[in-house]
Amino acid sequence: MKSRLDGFYVRRPVRLSLTLLSVMLMGSGQVVAEGDVSSGRALFPQCAACHAVGEGAGHLFGPMLNGVTQRAAASAEGYRYSDGMKKAVDAGLAWDDATLDAYLQSPMSYVPGTKMAFAGIADESQRQDMIAFLKQIAVDGTGAVAADATADVVATPLAQEEPRPLARDTVVPEHGVLHLGRQALPEEVVAWDIDIRPDGLGLPAGSGSVEAGVDIYDTQCAVCHGVFGEGEGRWPVLAGGFDSLTDERPEKTIGSYWPYLSTVFDYVRRAMPFGNARSLSDDDVYSLTAYLLYLNDQVDEEFTLSADNFSSIEMPNVDNFIDDDRMEEPQYAAIVEPCMQDCLEGEAAVTQRARILDVTPDGGGDEDAGGSID
Ligand code: HEC
Ligand code: HEC
Repeated sequence: MKSRLDGFYVRRPVRLSLTLLSVMLMGSGQVVAEGDVSSGRALFPQCAACHAVGEGAGHLFGPMLNGVTQRAAASAEGYRYSDGMKKAVDAGLAWDDATLDAYLQSPMSYVPGTKMAFAGIADESQRQDMIAFLKQIAVDGTGAVAADATADVVATPLAQEEPRPLARDTVVPEHGVLHLGRQALPEEVVAWDIDIRPDGLGLPAGSGSVEAGVDIYDTQCAVCHGVFGEGEGRWPVLAGGFDSLTDERPEKTIGSYWPYLSTVFDYVRRAMPFGNARSLSDDDVYSLTAYLLYLNDQVDEEFTLSADNFSSIEMPNVDNFIDDDRMEEPQYAAIVEPCMQDCLEGEAAVTQRARILDVTPDGGGDEDAGGSID
């Protein structure tokens, strides 16, 4: 990991030269962002889970970002910044091309203790585009939406599609008597249907090597999980822990504990990097899974994982898991199919009232609490 430079947050008079030096040391070649605004806008969905922009934008988990480069760092009114961020501001942090570049590359290493739990944007030109986009958003939110976009998408400035009609607005109630929701489109079902079975069913096409995994891991995962999966701070450890499961303090890692490789693949693909989930390509996920196997001594450095050899990998702890045969236990085996329709014989009648059942307190004593059943 690149080391953090303590003189990095410096006050104006000396900032330029020190910033230049720091930026060179951080390996980033440019100081002036020359990014493309509309490319930056297109990248914003990865920030939108935590940040709003546009007219009337408010704070989400992160502060709203209208005019962020035109205000002092960490000064959005009504937003509670982390102590880490406040400390950086006290030390002189101000947002300009160079500091934003460093923060967006690796928020948590640039501002230790920041609550922006986001892995960072590894690609330099994408960072430039993002900065160019942020810089032209005015304090009132103009600039968040492209000038040629229709005016009424302000609340969701990045919406790209026409909204589909809700069931209650359609003439034919295709969605049952309650008119709630709408039928999922086939492409939505496909997009959600990403689970993978232990035998490999559901795996996407593709492959990835341990070698390719190293780079992706070091730029996108190591900041939290440590360079060799040993964990940074209190983030989860991803390797080792073998033979510790019967200890008083077992170390449960994906290598020592998890029974199936499909869970590793699925978890990384679905949820990581934390704060930027679903940003990895299928080949990236194969590479990372291969590298995690390597870190856990299950394969050698030449290994390449693909859908073809996936089911040949057996995780060390698989035999210590048993099939869930709970449904054969007597109390479950006796369950009959529950009735779902026309289950009551005869007319329905009110038999109890909430007040009498004592779920609605009326200030009376216990004598009010009796139930009455017809
Ligand atoms: C997981 C949530 C999350 C994501 C994703 C995220 N951020 Fe943040 N961001 C935060 C939080 C929380 C803060 C406040 C930091 C603090 O107080 O430590 C913050 C702070 C910032 C700030 C400083 C704001 C200020 O008022 O000084 C900028 C700039 C920023 N984020 C830009 C981005 C950009 C650009 C992206 C997308 C590439 C992004 N963030 C993605 C949560 C997030
Ligand atoms: C911002 C910090 C962060 C980054 C970056 C990050 N992770 Fe995680 N990771 C977490 C957290 C937090 C959890 C635990 C989440 C939970 O238990 O709900 C986790 C859990 C995991 C787990 C499951 C571990 C276990 O034993 O439960 C795996 C595997 C994993 N991450 C892989 C990755 C990979 C691969 C990357 C890089 C693409 C990555 N992570 C990037 C924070 C991060």
